[in-house]
Amino acid sequence: MLDEYFLSELKNRNPIEEVVGRYVALRRRGRNIIGLCPFHTEKTPSFTLYPENGSFYCFGCGVGGDAIRFVMKAENLEYMEAVRLLAERSGLEMPDNGYDDTQRRTRLKILEINRESARFFNRLLSMPEGKTGLDYIHSRQINDNTVRRFGLGYAPAGWDTLTKHLLAKGFTPSELTAAGVSITGKDGKRVYDRFRNRMVFPLIDLRGNVIAFSCRKIDPEDKMGKYINTNDTLVYKKSRNVFALNLAKNSGADSLILCEGSMDVVMLHQAGFPNAVAAWGTALTSDQARLMHAYTEKIVLTLDADEAGQKATERAIKLLSDEGLDVRVVQIPNGKDPDEFIKSCGKDGRDRFRALIEGAGSDTEYRLFKAMDGININTDEGRTAFLRNAAAVLGSLQSPIERDVYAGKLASKFSVSKDAILNEAKRVYDSKQAERRKKEMREAVAPPSTDRVNSQRRANERAANAEEGLIAVLLRNPDFLRWIGDELPPEQFSTDFNRKIYTLLLNRYAEGLSTDISLLGDGLTPEEIGRIVQIQVRESGRANTPEECRGCARVIKEEKQKIPASKAEEMSDEELRDYMQRLREQKK
Ligand code: UTP
Ligand code: MN
Repeated sequence: MLDEYFLSELKNRNPIEEVVGRYVALRRRGRNIIGLCPFHTEKTPSFTLYPENGSFYCFGCGVGGDAIRFVMKAENLEYMEAVRLLAERSGLEMPDNGYDDTQRRTRLKILEINRESARFFNRLLSMPEGKTGLDYIHSRQINDNTVRRFGLGYAPAGWDTLTKHLLAKGFTPSELTAAGVSITGKDGKRVYDRFRNRMVFPLIDLRGNVIAFSCRKIDPEDKMGKYINTNDTLVYKKSRNVFALNLAKNSGADSLILCEGSMDVVMLHQAGFPNAVAAWGTALTSDQARLMHAYTEKIVLTLDADEAGQKATERAIKLLSDEGLDVRVVQIPNGKDPDEFIKSCGKDGRDRFRALIEGAGSDTEYRLFKAMDGININTDEGRTAFLRNAAAVLGSLQSPIERDVYAGKLASKFSVSKDAILNEAKRVYDSKQAERRKKEMREAVAPPSTDRVNSQRRANERAANAEEGLIAVLLRNPDFLRWIGDELPPEQFSTDFNRKIYTLLLNRYAEGLSTDISLLGDGLTPEEIGRIVQIQVRESGRANTPEECRGCARVIKEEKQKIPASKAEEMSDEELRDYMQRLREQKK
């Protein structure tokens, strides 16, 4: 644990506007300073600095915190590394004791090991021992230029060729296993190579570090998986990285082509699509979506046509459009993946794949296409069934113009009356609307939770406001923490997140620790810290008095007595109407 005196000195020497100013163009607005958020894509600034309390908060993506948090996120550093960086920049000496930099040293070691391994795998391709690898690469029609561009390589068939090489360079067995290139044998002592007799794709991050490997088997008799990838390490989180984004981000294209496998990406780059990337496997994550969104507004999805791939496509469409990306879906004929498709077209590969991309449908077209699944369109029953499914798809569209356009397309394609399709779509749309109105009525009492930090906030608005008011007053007046805990036990809080913060403050006070926001620290995510900053700012108008505290406490207790919002879900429509009527009368 770092000394609090040291931390507050660090904070004084690193004003938030100076720290952030190195990364973001800032301008003043009133008391605060604003700029474009470096952590998500935006055109109008919602990223705000509060010099008074040395914190930042982005109203767009909800990230916030102090100077240390900012540097951690901006430089992708651990807490201690960020502290050290700020200390160095401001000429402050790090305290000798009380901090441990083994983790930082291990990270640097892992990066070195990865780089050395990638070099080793790649060099083998030009040596006799690497012939198997080179033959395989050639059999996949990958040319030398592509090998160089991606730094492809070959992991040799022996048990510990790489391990021996790295040990000889002075790395320790535990460093090799921490990097994920070696594994410990059954005896618990000997370490040997994790990747054996495989073609190697290195994953290079946006700063140019080799952070992971994906290795494809060459020998059909190989009993291990088709691909073996690096598991998460100190320098690699699978869910936060995208293969070949380091290359694709510089392609100048206005979109990214998202494929399933590295082989597809490599082949697409070679065929003239330098904007191809892969998420390595089927389960795309929202972190990956956000990462890609930092470089593009449009994603062309080309996931495999097998069942797993189709499921993944549906998930990916949702994830990517929730992230605000424009999603197009490429349907590759005959269930091929991009690599197979390109090869099957011979020298026309490039043009034919470009045609596929240009014809890539919007997600609506994809869903219409899926509405044909398992239906024989040549029979009357089949057509009726398809049009019913299709109407359901169109009925989910908000825009009447869009409904009209697709109805027109379907009508001419299946020679049916456009009005018939539109009527059916309208019927679906209306019933969805009715459903929605009913839901809205329910939500007036029990709103859904879309607030990711405090998911109970919307259902407990009055309680949450009082809770947050109290938290803000306590942050400014930590001396009130001496008695407030007795008057208001944490159980009285209605929302878990606010209760957590309240409990944290009480505990820290009880242990004689500072309750300064920059020291609340490690147990909280940047989003959570962001929320605390937001609360502080929004509730800054509250008085610094015990009466203010007690006023909040009263409301918090009052709200705790009321029926829980979740009850409303179970009410019948009549009960609900009655209840809302009563609420309205109360308000008058
Ligand atoms: P595929 O099975 O579709 O492989 O897996 P592929 O990309 O077409 O590769 P080739 O053409 O057969 O050589 C797609 C992706 O899923 C992940 C890999 O990232 C792969 O690129 N995967 C697949 C694994 O992680 N492990 C596996 O065992 C299989
Ligand atoms: Mn393939």
